[in-house]
Amino acid sequence: MSTRAWFPTLIYNAPLQKTGAARFNAELVEECRQLRDFDEAGRKWSAKNYPGGYTSYASMNALHRFSSTFETLERKLAKHIKAYAKELAMDLRGREVSMSDCWVNIMPPTAAHSLHIHPNSFISGTYYVQTPKGCPGIKFEDPRLSKFMAAPPRLANAGEQHRAHITYPAEAGNVILFESWLRHEVAANRVDDERISISFNYQWS
Ligand code: NI
Repeated sequence: MSTRAWFPTLIYNAPLQKTGAARFNAELVEECRQLRDFDEAGRKWSAKNYPGGYTSYASMNALHRFSSTFETLERKLAKHIKAYAKELAMDLRGREVSMSDCWVNIMPPTAAHSLHIHPNSFISGTYYVQTPKGCPGIKFEDPRLSKFMAAPPRLANAGEQHRAHITYPAEAGNVILFESWLRHEVAANRVDDERISISFNYQWS
């Protein structure tokens, strides 16, 4: 081969656990909805910053420290974080990897989440709790996009790795991990049911 690919962008997608996802998710759905009922500050913040939906991002964002169910989620995620960091060839010696933020996102019909990154962390991700059929996935953007300048468009039949975006379907029971600097978004939910997910950040400090 005269040409090789370099500078990979790795995205991790795997089931959180081998069995028992349905029961665990039922528990989480209930807690997420209770949280929305309880979290007045979060509902207010969401009305301004997360139109049509609810997120505890700005109000209750350390759920793994306050709820045993979320603490269980943190424990289950640990091996996935470890596996992903290994794939990334990260040298994590000398500091601790820890979950710094963990929050809930509830997206009823019409709610969307525009392009963003996750500051102050190195690995971020989402665990899918309830994903009605046809709900939007998570769409990632090629991090080199702003550097393309005069580059021609790609062929319509180009391989997926050559596209400017890749969308992973949201599947209840699955965890998706990415490096925190990678821009992503969620299109508007067009199905008549709530899409529920839990997002989190990890720091190395
Ligand atoms: Ni995000």
